[in-house]
Amino acid sequence: MPKVRFEPSGVIVETAEGTTILDAALEADVELDHNCGENCACSTCHVIIESGMETLTPITEDEQDMLDEAIGLTERSRLACQCVLTEDVTVTIPDTSSQFADFDDFD
Ligand code: FES
Repeated sequence: MPKVRFEPSGVIVETAEGTTILDAALEADVELDHNCGENCACSTCHVIIESGMETLTPITEDEQDMLDEAIGLTERSRLACQCVLTEDVTVTIPDTSSQFADFDDFD
């Protein structure tokens, strides 16, 4: 059974193979926004894959289009609701609250 470690909290959840990272977060009561209900129609479930990227389902064009809207996009960014687990992964949930604070600098 794959394990997901969520950073920065350090919470680890063991879940069934075939579960998405978002569903693993919800199982473990890890706070992770998911405004469109897992329909690949927002970017609020954005996470950064620290390890295990190669074990996840490949990124689709639709996911990439949505990811382009994500705050704090990195080369290791994915949408948690689109990543199906087969092996252990470590993910960071970006701190969007501090990123929104940065918008004050654009005045
Ligand atoms: S919950 Fe909207 S894309 Fe994942």
